[in-house]
Amino acid sequence: MRKDKLLMTPGPTVIPPRVLEVMSRQIIHHRTAEFEAAFYEVEENLKYVFQTGNPVLILASSGTGAMEAAIANFFSPGDRVLVVSIGAFGDRFAEIAKAFSLNVEKLSFEWGQAADAERIKEVLDSDVKHEIKAVIITHNETSTGVTNDIEAVAKLTRDTDRLLIVDAVSSMGGLDLKTDLWGVDVVVTGSQKCLMAPPGLAFVSVSEKAWKAYENSTLPKFYWDLKKYKRGLLKELSENPPYTPAISLIMGQAEALRMIKEEGLEKVYERHKKLALATQAGVKALGLELFAREDVSSYIITAVKGPAGIDMGQLVKTMNIKYDIMITGGQKHLKGKIFRIGHCGYVDIFDVVKTFSALEKVLLELGYDMDLGVSVEAVQRSYFG
Ligand SMILES: Cc1ncc(COP(=O)(O)O)c(C=O)c1O
Repeated sequence: MRKDKLLMTPGPTVIPPRVLEVMSRQIIHHRTAEFEAAFYEVEENLKYVFQTGNPVLILASSGTGAMEAAIANFFSPGDRVLVVSIGAFGDRFAEIAKAFSLNVEKLSFEWGQAADAERIKEVLDSDVKHEIKAVIITHNETSTGVTNDIEAVAKLTRDTDRLLIVDAVSSMGGLDLKTDLWGVDVVVTGSQKCLMAPPGLAFVSVSEKAWKAYENSTLPKFYWDLKKYKRGLLKELSENPPYTPAISLIMGQAEALRMIKEEGLEKVYERHKKLALATQAGVKALGLELFAREDVSSYIITAVKGPAGIDMGQLVKTMNIKYDIMITGGQKHLKGKIFRIGHCGYVDIFDVVKTFSALEKVLLELGYDMDLGVSVEAVQRSYFG
């Protein structure tokens, strides 16, 4: 008898049974009191998770749709923006900005490293004509397993008229991101990672400063016109949300957010941290190396350098086909060079233990020399102390 796949990936992640149960119910209509109650509950709990008092807009798309909305709503063609990239998703934000005819200045850091706020400051300081309208950056770079220090970057934009736009697709609800306190203007995320719901919903928070920029933006927007979502939410339109929402997903997301609230954000962050440190301990016990610099290695996903002579594709495939555990390989030029273990969302220590137990077995099968049990022990020692 096969079991459900254990998704130790950076999204989609395992859906809690409570959420599955809610989503399996017959659909309700969205112009009803029942849906309205669920919608505003999601809204309130998103504000809690985003740590913001501003409305969080609920879109029907994957995270990339919200990234596009974050460009289309606050700029005009030719506007200059600084996109900071430390991997594939930073690169994606730059591509979206270019697709919308922005004048993109890109500051890239070596994959595996975090962005250096000092270097960002230098670029901003050298912009004497004050043309750069925004800094755009990834919070947790899923392709390399590195987390950026958003608080440090926010200090550079907070008291200026520049916007700070953050891709928190893989971090929201797993890593601390104090949207209002740090002064982050636009934060985007998706439902399918730390927020423990299926893919298909995206969320965007927008600061007052960003709404002012919205008023000057001339880029075309219709479905992604965020003001419509805001006005709907504030009941300034005859209908909220403005278009047919992804009803079943919203009902599921409501349940998942209840779970996060019950656990409490601080505990959720602590769990992610402890699971990441246990994963790092397991990796080292196997004699393997982290891809990311250790001090910036993500608490969401751990990227591991593939051992010499072991086929990464085979490793990932065997974990999946033979042991029903999904991990992922590298993206872009890291394909075949690293593998990545996600530990975000509905994950506990025994999921990590099980993953390392299978990983040891697969590594041995593929000819890697190690003692059975070393990483399982290290994972548990790290977690249980
Ligand atoms: C950091 C980051 N940004 C953006 C995305 C894109 O999100 P989606 O695949 O939901 O469009 C992802 C997805 O993996 C991500 O991890």
